[in-house]
Amino acid sequence: MDKKYRNALIAGNWKMNKLASEVPDFVEELASVADLGKGVDSALCVPFPLIPAMKEATDGTWIKVGAQDVSSHDKGAYTGEVSAAMLADLGVDYCIIGHSERRAYHAESDQLVNEKLKALLGAGITPIMCCGESLEQRDAGVTLTFVESQIKGGLAGVSPEEMKKVVIAYEPIWAIGTGRTATAEQAQEVCGYIRKVLAGLYGEELAKGVQILYGGSMNGKNAAELLAQPDIDGGLIGGASLKMEFADIIGAANE
Ligand code: PGA
Repeated sequence: MDKKYRNALIAGNWKMNKLASEVPDFVEELASVADLGKGVDSALCVPFPLIPAMKEATDGTWIKVGAQDVSSHDKGAYTGEVSAAMLADLGVDYCIIGHSERRAYHAESDQLVNEKLKALLGAGITPIMCCGESLEQRDAGVTLTFVESQIKGGLAGVSPEEMKKVVIAYEPIWAIGTGRTATAEQAQEVCGYIRKVLAGLYGEELAKGVQILYGGSMNGKNAAELLAQPDIDGGLIGGASLKMEFADIIGAANE
């Protein structure tokens, strides 16, 4: 990462794991490593019902709170949905959108991701917009063009001022939860390409300031090498964020 232009961000994605009752002990242990918070932005993105417990437990610590999805609608008759205003009201700082699991299991399109991104920006929440190719796409050699189309679709109509508040996460689908991490070179190639696409859309200066994360089986052992790449500014961490290994990854980003 290029520390001159941007901070590291290490965001945990708990997915549909843990209970609210498990939050206080976990946060107490994580926050006790006081040094971790120094030069790194850190967040835990948790299921909606865990957010109040997470806010309470992280109060006064360096850990920020995130959600994993949001409705594209402001309010009204949308049973089961949660609005950006509701998340902001709870004090949520970050929200993941366009995760490949939501794209796959809930048929989320780039257009819907774009609407969710705008809803979050309107509520003052930082979107972490995910993109990434399948193994078939990588094997077919279309990784870069596919990721570019996801980025352009997700950011359609987003102004330069708004773009300054957006985080991008590159997560190759074949690396998520599989233990098969992208090599540092593979991850850097795509993250570097994403920055080029952003430079084309918003200019070099703005693109230099955007935090681009890598996600997909990042852990305490491989984090340092991935984070040493010039265009990888942090991680979106699934499995390893459920354990104290998360502290090791934040530690690696601190170095
Ligand atoms: P993983 O998940 O770290 O368990 O591979 C990453 C993610 O899906 O965000």
